[in-house]
Amino acid sequence: MIDDGFRLLPEQASTHAPRVDLLYFFLLGMAAFFTVLIATLIVYFSIKYRRGNTQVDRTPSQGHPIRLEIAWMVVPFVISMVIFGWGAGLYFSAYRPPAGAMEVRVVAKQWMWKFQHASGRREINTLHVPLGQPVKLTMISEDVIHSLYVPAFRVKRDVLPGRYSACWFEATRTGEFHLFCAEYCGTNHSRMTGSVVVMEPSEFETWLGSGRNELPAIAGKRLFEELRCASCHQPDVGLARCPPVVGIFGRGVKLADGATVTADEDYLRESILRPSAKVVAGFQPLMPSFDGQVDEEQLIQLIAYIKSLTTP
Ligand code: CUA
Repeated sequence: MIDDGFRLLPEQASTHAPRVDLLYFFLLGMAAFFTVLIATLIVYFSIKYRRGNTQVDRTPSQGHPIRLEIAWMVVPFVISMVIFGWGAGLYFSAYRPPAGAMEVRVVAKQWMWKFQHASGRREINTLHVPLGQPVKLTMISEDVIHSLYVPAFRVKRDVLPGRYSACWFEATRTGEFHLFCAEYCGTNHSRMTGSVVVMEPSEFETWLGSGRNELPAIAGKRLFEELRCASCHQPDVGLARCPPVVGIFGRGVKLADGATVTADEDYLRESILRPSAKVVAGFQPLMPSFDGQVDEEQLIQLIAYIKSLTTP
């Protein structure tokens, strides 16, 4: 069960958590310092310069106290740059998954979280992950904007329709942690919750092996044939009337309009749903759209299959 005892901050259960909290406490400390400083000076000056007090010097200041003016520009500038640099560093480390992270696919919809592990094992509203291993979440929404939020990991990222977004974490404690949707997404937004279960790596392997696993690339291959993609995009035979799919993933693709795009997951997804959006140089826009015929999970499988034709 999730420990819901009272605490000011959620527990720290990922490598991000202590680092995010440190910045948070720094900001809190700065705010407290200036609040106390300013409040004290207000009280002090209101007493010192109260009406009727003839003991104080009230002559208007002459000229510019240049040192003071420089100080009140430089000090806030330095403080804000420190906050900016620190925050930007944390942001990049939180949203740039390390190479070799374990991949989990997330499809959000009103109102549930669907997860699929690289082995193919699926789960809904509960995500099992191993301890001490970076986990990368690649996320997309089937409808409106959702936001995946695991307070104990200090991880929050919007899940958008029409585009993959990613985040990652490395759990540092075993146990069960809350998972929330942090973007108002309709009537049952507040019930779009779940949990992340962090297990010892060996336990996790056992858990993973106990379910039904079909590699997404295998499911994608079947789909590729069912949808008759193969009738043009023969994976093994290069046909002249359509661009090849073998070895395409991650490569630069030259388009008819002269631009070059990288064949990443977003590009492949777009090319399946809206083939004429980015026509490959030297080809006609002949491919029909598969919008409405495949759902997000099937798109992920198709992309996994195309990816598998590149990675050995
Ligand atoms: Cu999904 Cu709020």
